[in-house]
Amino acid sequence: MATKQKMVIQGGRPLEGDVRVSGGKNASVALIPATLLSDAPCVIENLPDIEDVRALVDILRSLGAVVDYDPGVEMRVDPRPVNSFTVPYQKAQKLRASYYLMGALLGRCGHADVAYPGGCHIGLRPIDQHLKGFRALGCRVEDRAGMVNIEAGQLVGNVVNFDMATVGGTINVMLAAAKAEGQTMLINAAKEPHIVDLANFLNSMGATIRGAGTDIIRITGRPRLHGTVYQVIPDQIETGTLMIAAAATHGDVTVHDCIPTHMESLTAKLLEMGIMVTDGGDSIRVRSTGPHRSVKVTTQAYPGFPTDLQQPMCSLLTTTQGTSRVEETIFESRFRHVDELRRMGAKIDMFSDRVAMITGVPELYGAPVTVTDLRAGAALLVAGLMARGETEIYEPGYIDRGYEHIEEKLRSLGADIRRETCEE
Ligand code: EPZ
Repeated sequence: MATKQKMVIQGGRPLEGDVRVSGGKNASVALIPATLLSDAPCVIENLPDIEDVRALVDILRSLGAVVDYDPGVEMRVDPRPVNSFTVPYQKAQKLRASYYLMGALLGRCGHADVAYPGGCHIGLRPIDQHLKGFRALGCRVEDRAGMVNIEAGQLVGNVVNFDMATVGGTINVMLAAAKAEGQTMLINAAKEPHIVDLANFLNSMGATIRGAGTDIIRITGRPRLHGTVYQVIPDQIETGTLMIAAAATHGDVTVHDCIPTHMESLTAKLLEMGIMVTDGGDSIRVRSTGPHRSVKVTTQAYPGFPTDLQQPMCSLLTTTQGTSRVEETIFESRFRHVDELRRMGAKIDMFSDRVAMITGVPELYGAPVTVTDLRAGAALLVAGLMARGETEIYEPGYIDRGYEHIEEKLRSLGADIRRETCEE
């Protein structure tokens, strides 16, 4: 008998208490490939124990690296035995960020043969800007049957002018440019916290990267980088998801070991809704003390409202007074959670593929729902926590890609949530 997993939530209970946020997924999936640029072992602390991290461990080992991984403690990568530059499809397709192996392998040995996972549920997600950057550094790039074959006799620094602020493009080209000959300038670079974290990580290995966090990043390539011991930054999106869940359940939660300045766009929106948010330096307290006002949300590149929080934010907006407008400007199909929220009683009209109008209802009610992508899973978690009655969330594996031990964290805040195995 085939089985599958589901999460079961008895909703309607306010989340209360203290919770610690884990290390950042989107920073971790950049730092781990970056260890290949070193000529000595690197240690990374505070990595989240999530599927994407485990998939990268498997890929690094398949390339020949020696990886000692103690989940929740540290990861030690010795890249010296690496003897391959090929990442086949069955390994690369386990996580989208496997394409960072292109920049890392180019920086390490001037050659990369990496399968590209292609589009996903939230959009086409092309990598033309990544490849444009590699070509600018002197690479020959061939895209054959889903395998991207990249060769550089010698990587040579250059100016790369991105057509849009791309997180992945900025990270991938930074990885290669760190070992290129001479200066590289990234113009219209993305400014997300995980880009700053990668620059800090590479600089701790002896790289020379200036301007990360602004839209112009200057990189002076180095022939060799050394080992380091480094702690990955807290997860901005998990912090935001926990903040939203606290507000949505009319609770009172303090999220610890986070970086409040990374959360400013969400904090501003919650305050606009009449929700109390207090900055505690390395913690944020969210308290809901009454009805929530409807608002307008438009996703933007950092420091704007993060697209990764758009989906859980939709859940919070389903029970405000009035009608909220949510516009997704980054990805072309990031509203697959809307159908599932409607099953729970939400009143959402899609004005276009990118604009949702959400009219507040008194409450959501529990229902069986299915996860279609990672942050849609976050949206359904929030909705299940706030709904009256029982919600069953199918395909919870998507959630495990980006949230470490999420049931334990929510249970510690008073949620009635468990995971069950059921028949297919
Ligand atoms: C990163 O994706 C994150 N993933 C995403 O988080 C996040 O939503 C996104 O940045 C925006 O913040 C990781 O960091 C692993 P982009 P990425 O390149 O790099 C277009 C999550 O839930 N574009 O900034 O793919 C692209 O289609 C995930 O944790 C091109 O056209 O995002 C999109 O419309 C989901 N050509 C826009 O730019 C390119 O070569 C922004 O994409 C690259 C991107």
